[in-house]
Amino acid sequence: NTEVLKIDRNNPDKEKIKMAADVIKNGGTVAFPTETVYGLGANALDEKAVEKIFIAKGRPQDNPLIVHIGDVNQIYPLVESVPEKALKLMERFWPGPLTLLFNKSDKIPSKITGGLETVAIRMPNHKIAVELIKEANLPVAAPSANTSGKPSPTNASHVIEDLMGKIDMIIDGGNTGVGVESTVLDISTDMPTILRPGGITKEDLLEIFPEVKIDPALEKSSKDLKPKSPGQKYRHYSPNAQMIVIQGELQEISQSIKELLKEYEEKGLKVGIMATEQTKNIYESKNVIVVGDRDRPETIAANLFKVLREFDKKGVDLILAEGVEESGIGMAIMNRMRKAAGGNVKTIEN
Ligand code: TXA
Ligand code: MG
Repeated sequence: NTEVLKIDRNNPDKEKIKMAADVIKNGGTVAFPTETVYGLGANALDEKAVEKIFIAKGRPQDNPLIVHIGDVNQIYPLVESVPEKALKLMERFWPGPLTLLFNKSDKIPSKITGGLETVAIRMPNHKIAVELIKEANLPVAAPSANTSGKPSPTNASHVIEDLMGKIDMIIDGGNTGVGVESTVLDISTDMPTILRPGGITKEDLLEIFPEVKIDPALEKSSKDLKPKSPGQKYRHYSPNAQMIVIQGELQEISQSIKELLKEYEEKGLKVGIMATEQTKNIYESKNVIVVGDRDRPETIAANLFKVLREFDKKGVDLILAEGVEESGIGMAIMNRMRKAAGGNVKTIEN
């Protein structure tokens, strides 16, 4: 039996936060909003509670979880040390969508880290999340609150779709903001390395470091490399439909989508098109969904996962999606699109 609790994100009701915190303290599972996506939380220090997360999501055991804290001082018992580099990043970007890897202390169950010696930690920038963690007075392990392999939830209704009946509580705090998950950053190497692009962009990180690397396993043509972030190896964020992403100049993208639309409809497939404000009127199809404005890519990030779910509700067989420029938040958007498409990205050169 899953209880759904509506909480106002701007002015969280103390009594309701306390009810949710009690569930966490008692070893239960609570889905809650963050500024990125909804998380499925449990007491990070309780191995049995953490196990419940893996079961509810159907998550592979080797995919480690992020530990969420509500106050910087909560980090010290969880890690061996906090390096200088980390302190700088925490000061600049926490609370916010940046997850950092630390050498874990003995307090962290190996269940959380999938057997790795490092633990991923972040402080979310969301009133409900922070007040919940503070009230529970515990570090909270929380992956995205979706069924493993599905698009991450950016609204409580998505969590309800996936996890109703499988977890103890869902906090409905409305839409999340950023819409794609946090950036996962490895600072154990000389040059900081992005293991998963997300809400804090490479450009943001370059304000602090002269150089920032991207895990080579994330590049398009690297099928044989093993990503350092275990989650990145799975097909992910996936709609039921097949998906093709077209990248290039907008003119060419839309021309190519028109051709593919014709080709696949002639084969009898129901084709959906993920378009943008700039192109919404140029496709001759009933199944066009606008994901956002190309001039404000943060709107595309905010809507991407929701739109993938909408295509599934329409029951399309194939989604043709316009790619975006791979800079700023565009890097995270293209990473998620590439995964949703199972690598099926067509780049048009001119
Ligand atoms: O924005 C977010 O990060 C959301 C919200 C709820 O905070 N959480 C989230 O968690 O996206 P999840 O479990 O869906 O993704 C965690 C990612 C996975 O790709 C996992 O492999 C990686 O972080 N990760 C966790 N611990 C790691 C570690 N020790 N080393 C490398 N990668 C790690
Ligand atoms: Mg996830």
